[in-house]
Amino acid sequence: MPESHPDTNPLAAYADRQVWVDGTLTPALEASVSVFDHGLLYGDGVFEGIRIYNGRILKLATHLRRFDQSARAIRLNLPYDTAALDAACRDTVKANGLSDGYIRLVATRGPGSLGIDPVPCPRPRVFVIAATIQLYPQSYYDQGLSVISSSVVRNHPQALSPRIKSLNYLNNILAKIEALDAGVLESVMYNLEGNVAEASADNLFIVRPDATTGQPVLWTPPLSAGCLEGVTRNLVIGLARDAGITVREENITRHDLYTCDEFFLTGSGAEVVPVVTIDRRDVGTGKPGPVTQQLITAFRALMKHAPED
Ligand SMILES: Cc1ncc(COP(=O)(O)O)c(C=O)c1O
Repeated sequence: MPESHPDTNPLAAYADRQVWVDGTLTPALEASVSVFDHGLLYGDGVFEGIRIYNGRILKLATHLRRFDQSARAIRLNLPYDTAALDAACRDTVKANGLSDGYIRLVATRGPGSLGIDPVPCPRPRVFVIAATIQLYPQSYYDQGLSVISSSVVRNHPQALSPRIKSLNYLNNILAKIEALDAGVLESVMYNLEGNVAEASADNLFIVRPDATTGQPVLWTPPLSAGCLEGVTRNLVIGLARDAGITVREENITRHDLYTCDEFFLTGSGAEVVPVVTIDRRDVGTGKPGPVTQQLITAFRALMKHAPED
């Protein structure tokens, strides 16, 4: 893994920001949670990462629904209803004067005793951070990313469902470290059966020609393969279908990644980013392909008036 940079202060970018903590807007660098919070002690909590485009919060209603589902799955009773969380996100964006950026909505189990038992945690804590986001530079969208296959198996859905957007990202972080060690930014995670699940923090798609017609078909792993139901994933599926492209949510193997014509990742941070090599093999021509470029253009056009639900 590249060395960390002790001279750079990663918090400097947030110095002028306001963070919403349980109903109060607080200067970002003073906002804190307890060292006894089970979100910190055990990764016991859930979160969302949400984009703001042109003053509109992309798919806020969908993100709040997924947040609620994640919380319900881990039996964390959110102390705010959806309307209150919607208002918290909007108030935080406004307080920070952002028309483009990123929202991090987090609920922790709250402070409790040192055991894992969540019952002594009387009240979950909820906070909202809104800031600008460091996207991949434009060159990655023009030239594409290199990725590797990770040896870290994606969490088995019967152990910890990847559909829960939980505060425990160690499974993904180990895959990210493996990518960085290999000199690339992303890695593909496979499930226990050896099928593709997702990238370390993004969903993925490939393009292959239909066996009979030769028409390009978009493939993405089904949720049962063990991936997050990405908001961007669903948006891209919709954009592709609107453009008349067939989309299949079916299992993808490593061989499919090695032999496909096009490959791209999707996520709130990454948006739609082409992948041009995997495990040192060129994807298709080794350049972003036409379907990927078409979907990047369609995605950017949609973001000019980003749908909020
Ligand atoms: C593991 C994982 N998969 C996929 C995604 C993409 O999801 P979304 O498009 O909702 O941001 C994320 C986003 O953070 C993620 O962490």
